[in-house]
Amino acid sequence: MRTQTQQPALLDHVDLRVVAAAAGGATADRHAVVQLDPDHPGFRDAEYRARRQEIARLSMTYKTGAALPDAPYTDEEHHLWRAVRAALGPAHGRHSCAEYLECAGRLELPHDRIPQLREVSEKVQAISGFRLEPVAGLVEPRVFLESLAGGVFLCTQYIRHHSAPFYTPEPDVVHEVLGHAVTLSSERLAALNRLAGEAVRRSASPEDLERLSRVYWFTVEFGVVREAGEVKAYGAGLLSSAGELEAMRRAELRPLDLEAASRQAYDPTQFQPVLFCADSFGAMFETLRDFLLNWGR
Ligand SMILES: [Fe+2]
Repeated sequence: MRTQTQQPALLDHVDLRVVAAAAGGATADRHAVVQLDPDHPGFRDAEYRARRQEIARLSMTYKTGAALPDAPYTDEEHHLWRAVRAALGPAHGRHSCAEYLECAGRLELPHDRIPQLREVSEKVQAISGFRLEPVAGLVEPRVFLESLAGGVFLCTQYIRHHSAPFYTPEPDVVHEVLGHAVTLSSERLAALNRLAGEAVRRSASPEDLERLSRVYWFTVEFGVVREAGEVKAYGAGLLSSAGELEAMRRAELRPLDLEAASRQAYDPTQFQPVLFCADSFGAMFETLRDFLLNWGR
């Protein structure tokens, strides 16, 4: 059994150590069902596991382009969302970049209940053209990243276990919605997500996929920029965790060098000790856009 310090802080969309899928371990299928690790906070909660299966089934029967299925969240799960949002609110005020705050204000997502992916997707699509589609759990990085090229963000729909409101070892609806969906309603961040997907489509080798996954990790997931002399987050992994937002103050900041980021290993079992910081949001946009456009050409 893993110790507390070895627990993944967030095994995320581009993490190559994908969790095991049901029977056979095939994870290329975007509809694969995730089995909970024995160390998962919800592993011993039969009711939670049944609900995870119920919500996973929604995505397994989902057909691209169809209406997004509503998840039947319980009152307890809505309560959990309120608790997480209450913690994130002040952290966002202190640590998120202006672009994020502007997007969050535009989306006006509910504080009192978990929003359905359907309603979030409609709002995001109206702004940037990106739409959300449900998946049961983590899918392989190539499947996840290539879908971005088509303006589709693959989202989990379940919420973390109530025993650990500020921790999730895998992306959940909090991370997808308050991290990714909000940032995808930024036209510039949406454009970068599309470009990342297109760059992956031009990458045949596993080495190139790994390098692009690292670039995605250190930008879209854990990117920071300077604003008025302060370090602010635009990365979804930071923006969906009050703990990570506070911890980023202690990280070693390196200039945004994407060649270096593509070769920088990361460890998802702890708060990120190294972050790549651009001089401004605009500088980050141009640097990442040019890097992705030139990738593989
Ligand atoms: Fe993510």
